Amino acid sequence: TQSVSEIARVKNLNRLSIGRHEVDAWYFSPYPQEFAHLPVLYICEFCLAYFPSQFMLTRHRKRCTLLSPPGNEIYRHEDLSFFEIDGKKQLSYCRNLSLLSKCFLDHKTLYYDVTPFMYYVMCQRDSTGCHLIAYFSKEKESAENYNVACILTLPQHQRHGYGRLVIEFSYLLSQREGKLGSPEKPLSDLGLLGYRAYWAEKIVETVLAAGEEISVDEIAQATSITHADVMNTCTTLQLFKHYKGQHIICLSDAVLERYEKSKAKRRRRIFKEYLNWRPPSFTRDQLRFGW
Ligand code: ACO
Ligand code: ZN
Repeated sequence: TQSVSEIARVKNLNRLSIGRHEVDAWYFSPYPQEFAHLPVLYICEFCLAYFPSQFMLTRHRKRCTLLSPPGNEIYRHEDLSFFEIDGKKQLSYCRNLSLLSKCFLDHKTLYYDVTPFMYYVMCQRDSTGCHLIAYFSKEKESAENYNVACILTLPQHQRHGYGRLVIEFSYLLSQREGKLGSPEKPLSDLGLLGYRAYWAEKIVETVLAAGEEISVDEIAQATSITHADVMNTCTTLQLFKHYKGQHIICLSDAVLERYEKSKAKRRRRIFKEYLNWRPPSFTRDQLRFGW
């Protein structure tokens, strides 16, 4: 596979129309040449197919029967749902999703081969369908124990707490797998901000819930956040204190105050009771040959 960042190209798209929204593209994305440099690229919000005009999109919508992503709904709570989509089974949807997300991801290598990945798509449901808000991709088998390859909240939905929900969901899947996980490196600036905020909140929450001394390992087990990410976050937040020749984790007033503030702001969370999912298992041949 050849990655886009290796080719290093300039931005080729202007605006994107998706459902009720129109947004600016941020970065180059390898849409076919004839779809680049249009004033607006029209995207079917359900199958993510793309069209050069509103007219062609409208014509497509008459034939396109999708009202939700083409996968299994594995989580539903209030108006939010998560769908699990196998890159091998839904090639065109997953390629279209990759093309769309590349518009907002610069540092990432975008793999044209979607078969080694599962896609977890978060939608908001209403009477007109399940509308794509955010998603992440995940390698079917990651040697590095990455639990997220790429993560994105569509720009029109950013800074509403959805990214945090998607991150929380990714760790819930790791929890079900009985694994610790970490996002694929390098993280973008926005990715780092989102993860740092999540790790800090989750670690403080876990320390508070323990009510007594808790080790880095116990935090990792309770949250599925890797030891390295727990250690780094604790170091950044200056939570380690020397006590009788030992390092112990201690929450400062400033950290507690920040935690209370961010918790008060948070409107939603993920409830594990609503996850209807077992880790998919793949044979070695399925992984190698994409069967
Ligand atoms: N400036 C400062 N802090 C931010 C910003 C920002 N622009 N965006 C997120 N944060 C931090 C804040 O602490 C925020 O909490 P707050 O709003 O209560 O202050 C916290 O992250 C969570 O914010 P959310 O609203 O839950 O996150 P959002 O839905 O905006 O999604 C994401 C975050 C996915 C990183 C989004 O910015 C995005 O899609 N960016 C473009 C694609 C990208 O860079 N993805 C990550 C690549 S790395 C990887 O894929 C492994
Ligand atoms: Zn469609």
